[in-house]
Amino acid sequence: MMRWFISCVCFFLGSIVTLYAGEGMWVPLLLEQTRYEKMKSQGLQLSAKDIYDINHASMKDAVVLFNGGCSGVVVSGEGLLLTNHHCGYDRIQAHSTLEHDYLTEGFWAGSHEEELSNPGLEVDFLIEMKDVTDAVLALVGDTMTESERWQRIKEGTPEIAKKSLPLGKGYKAVIKSLFNGNQYYLYIYQTYKDVRLVGAPPSAIGKFGGDTDNWMWPRHTGDFSVFRIYAGKDNQPAEYSPENVPYKPAYFVPVSLRGLSPGDFSMVMGYPGSTDRFITSPELSVLVDVNYPLRIALRNIKLDIWKQAMKQDPLTRIQYAAKYASVSNSWKKWQGVIRGIEKAGGIEQKKAAEKLFLEKIMSNPQWNTRYAGLPEAFEKTCEMQREYIVPSILIKEGIFGVEWMQMAEKICRFVESLPSGDENSWTSLLNEFISDQSSFYRNYRPEVDREVFTALLTEFLKNADSRYIPAALQKTVDKKFHGDIFLYVKDLYDHSVLKDQASLGKALLKAKSGHAGKVFNLPEIALYKAFDRVFLEKIEPVSQSVDWKLDSLTRIYTEALLLLNADQPVYPDANLTLRVAYGSIEGFSPSDAVLYTPFTYLDGVIAKEDTSIYDYKVPARLKALYEAGDYGDYGVGGRLPVCMLGSNHTSGGNSGSPVFNRNGELVGLNFDRNWEGTMSDVLYDPEQCRNIMVDIRYVLFIIDKFAGSKHLVSEMQIVK
Ligand code: ARG
Ligand code: GLU
Repeated sequence: MMRWFISCVCFFLGSIVTLYAGEGMWVPLLLEQTRYEKMKSQGLQLSAKDIYDINHASMKDAVVLFNGGCSGVVVSGEGLLLTNHHCGYDRIQAHSTLEHDYLTEGFWAGSHEEELSNPGLEVDFLIEMKDVTDAVLALVGDTMTESERWQRIKEGTPEIAKKSLPLGKGYKAVIKSLFNGNQYYLYIYQTYKDVRLVGAPPSAIGKFGGDTDNWMWPRHTGDFSVFRIYAGKDNQPAEYSPENVPYKPAYFVPVSLRGLSPGDFSMVMGYPGSTDRFITSPELSVLVDVNYPLRIALRNIKLDIWKQAMKQDPLTRIQYAAKYASVSNSWKKWQGVIRGIEKAGGIEQKKAAEKLFLEKIMSNPQWNTRYAGLPEAFEKTCEMQREYIVPSILIKEGIFGVEWMQMAEKICRFVESLPSGDENSWTSLLNEFISDQSSFYRNYRPEVDREVFTALLTEFLKNADSRYIPAALQKTVDKKFHGDIFLYVKDLYDHSVLKDQASLGKALLKAKSGHAGKVFNLPEIALYKAFDRVFLEKIEPVSQSVDWKLDSLTRIYTEALLLLNADQPVYPDANLTLRVAYGSIEGFSPSDAVLYTPFTYLDGVIAKEDTSIYDYKVPARLKALYEAGDYGDYGVGGRLPVCMLGSNHTSGGNSGSPVFNRNGELVGLNFDRNWEGTMSDVLYDPEQCRNIMVDIRYVLFIIDKFAGSKHLVSEMQIVK
């Protein structure tokens, strides 16, 4: 296997942007020019137009952006949609109560009528993408500052977008930058807003292994959920209505039961959110030496407290499940990134590439003036960044990561947005605002939040330079509470109006009858304001100018890299638009003498079972099916495949992305990466970077055999 790895690591001679086998999230429109031949040589049997075509139905018509941050795939002529369990998680949670705990029990609609509506949940279908670089860059000039440039583009692009917007329902046109402001693409989407929950396995399947196994291989998670898109009678987007009918897609993907074998071609289509592959060594060093370690430490504190509370009380567990999963997800990923960068010598690799860059630049007098100063300028700008990054994270990640601080922020924004003068019109706005907060309070435990705040405030006071500590806070803690933060916080909470919705409502309506300004005098709101002021006055002026500077440097650096690599296909960083990644089914070696194979089986689920650990409980019904060996059409050689590992380059947002075989048939759903490879957003290492997928046969087995919802499988076009 190692030999294979090494022979496949293809450096493009003379290029600064090294592209490894397996690396790349390719723009579907450009597949023919960039990657198609390679994909074909690795086994792909489709034409580029089968994947992306604007004149005929193609695979892109079945791949959606799900809920603005995940991916999904349409698998039936009746708008049936598959995505990950963790992508539908907050919807499943929202339908859950102690009596109907769908997170724990799972949920299966027996008929269309039983499918559950999800206000606010949307899916976007990509209609078309096109290069509008010339039109956008015509808006700006080289002498503009980065912020002027940004402003011009922000103001000018809606006009360009509008010209391409089709008539009809639900269309939107978005212009996004590629290659850090060097190119611009227009994306036209059609958005469907009536998306209903059809099925979800119990968390003991959909989140099996929980946060313990998250980002890890070997993996045994059935991370999928099932939705259905509804449309008006004309098949066009419509607001939720019981009259709506299942959406008839332009294309839906066939599902293969044949599975893949090690070495087989695989392709992932979906919406990776954001990567930073052109990051320079000083930026990477700030990230992995300062930024991530501090944020990890702050999240440790919060997660420990939440975990305890969730263990002690089943209601708290439901209330905090989604929040815990989301905070712990990046927390764990960052730890993997730090380790991965260290192990790969990432900073040294970047430095070596920068040295090579400088040599190339110096060899050409034309490039010299524009580009030669870049490495040093990055270095200097990052030094400035190091001056404020610690207090900035202590406030943003620490203090503002406290739940009631987030509520305080929301309140301030709302009060500030109230139309001035006309106090009478406020009442209805206030009532609306107060009732909107019920989703927050449904999942809120003030006593848990108080503990988090005490701990994070302690951390802040211990580590922040005194000039970043709000003076009034320091004074109150010292004078009134003799430095005892615990007592200070207790007092604040005892009198807080943010504890529950009723107190909040009362306080806001009372403030209204005097002046809105009174809201800002509430001690907890005043405290939020004080931190906000510190941030705005002492941090933001510097951080903003550093950010603009880095944006400008990155744009010019990327321009230079594109110039130096003009003869090679280069893929742009992820920007939450549709991409194609391809690779093969393969394992990896995480450490000396350890080799991971690329398939897991139900046997592994059973072996992991531990009834004393929440994450490793196995539903009795699943065990019974295992013991009976009753896998129907979904097993192979007496075993049931569960997850697969592959070398498709993916990122956050690719969750729920369909995984295809060489014929474009669905064989799995992407849902994760391996911990050792999470640094692939900034540095791709072909030996370590893998994506984790759930085998579609496990998905179908759970739907059909476990949940008894064979009718859903019957809707699909199954290739045996
Ligand atoms: N790591 C995956 C992603 O980034 C899955 C996260 C959800 N699962 C979990 N156990 N928290 O989204
Ligand atoms: N779980 C991630 C998501 O929700 C995908 C894993 C990754 O970051 O690669 O998008």
